[in-house]
Amino acid sequence: MTFKRPEGVKGPPEVPILFVMEDPLSLTGREQGEVLIRGGTGESLLEIALDNGINIEHACGGVCACSTCHVYVEEGEQLLSESTEPEEDRVEEAPGLQRNSRLACQCVIKGKGPITVRVPAWNRNAVKEEPH
Ligand code: FES
Repeated sequence: MTFKRPEGVKGPPEVPILFVMEDPLSLTGREQGEVLIRGGTGESLLEIALDNGINIEHACGGVCACSTCHVYVEEGEQLLSESTEPEEDRVEEAPGLQRNSRLACQCVIKGKGPITVRVPAWNRNAVKEEPH
């Protein structure tokens, strides 16, 4: 599936992002639970994951219209774009909501420190059918 990348200038891949996967086999086809990837400012966590073989669910294609790309930001939240009201509304639909819950497609890297992201084991398609 294609997905929407954030617009704007991308920095060089120099920001270390540790992806910790509770179910790595379903996300990558491998058993390795932690993968360190370097991303650039202006990139979303979703696009960095997908570009590096971590297949985080993204049912709406990265436009903040589902909650399948739900992740926990465990370190470096201040280095990411702030959560918007539409994101907060969506993320509330995600199972296992926590204080550090974010939508990976809405987290754009702004700063250069280390970031740690946990990808939950379950992934549920929470796309809502609009009434006709
Ligand atoms: S992919 Fe749908 S909200 Fe992120």
